[in-house]
Amino acid sequence: MATNLLHRHKVIERNVTLLGVLALVTVAIGGIVEIAPLFWIQSTVTRVEGVRPYTPLELAGRDIYVREGCYGCHSQMIRPFRDEVERYGHYSLAAESMYDHPFQWGSKRTGPDLARVGGRYSDEWHVQHLKDPRSVVPESIMPPYAFLADRDLDGKSMAAHLVALSRVGVPYTGDDIKQAAADFDAQATGEGDTAGLLKRYPKAQARDYDGNPGRVTEMDALVAYLQGLGSQVDFKAAEAQEQRQ
Ligand code: HEC
Repeated sequence: MATNLLHRHKVIERNVTLLGVLALVTVAIGGIVEIAPLFWIQSTVTRVEGVRPYTPLELAGRDIYVREGCYGCHSQMIRPFRDEVERYGHYSLAAESMYDHPFQWGSKRTGPDLARVGGRYSDEWHVQHLKDPRSVVPESIMPPYAFLADRDLDGKSMAAHLVALSRVGVPYTGDDIKQAAADFDAQATGEGDTAGLLKRYPKAQARDYDGNPGRVTEMDALVAYLQGLGSQVDFKAAEAQEQRQ
């Protein structure tokens, strides 16, 4: 029996075309088993209440975060270990970065994790820290980013940005896109249609962030982004939802 099987296997080994075809069939079966279910399930990420796409101003701030390479020193991913949870807060959920393209989990922590930095400090603290980190944390080795407060920013390009993100699955509506520039201004100044902004982006905070109400700068956008980090999910509600599942 065994020698018979070996003999038949020899046939495959000696015929390269047959070997190729059979190898392809075997790999295809494995591939189908792994890939096909992804077409039928709605999402690989469990939805969590409260997670919403970024506001146009937060998105502009996020772009500055990426441009300046903040991710090179800061992670945005709290692992489910006791020391991390006690230091940074509830561990990160996949849903919290589902609208991040690309996600900012990072892989290095020269500075602390920023996934839940939102609301931990005042706007004044962030502005002072970004302008001159050592003026608030004497032992800091973070570089200064004072120039951000001198660079004007407007929301004109944000509509195109929202369109691009909606193409990769971020659920911005036509209304969100139409109002992008107005929402940008309302959030950076606290003036204008802030009610509309809040309706489109629940929990969005609208105010002058950089301490300079006369101008909208890159500092406004970056601080707005930082102040929103990790604050979308109500964890008490999320835990109750987890238990129900
Ligand atoms: C060279 C590494 C480095 C880079 C680049 C860097 N940081 Fe930091 N950051 C640190 C270190 C170290 C600390 C801790 C000391 C301190 O608070 O200044 C820190 C602290 C912080 C904190 C306070 C966090 C907390 O929980 O106390 C924030 C907010 C922050 N950084 C934001 C940023 C932003 C935004 C950028 C990009 C514009 C950035 N950092 C770039 C190293 C860096």
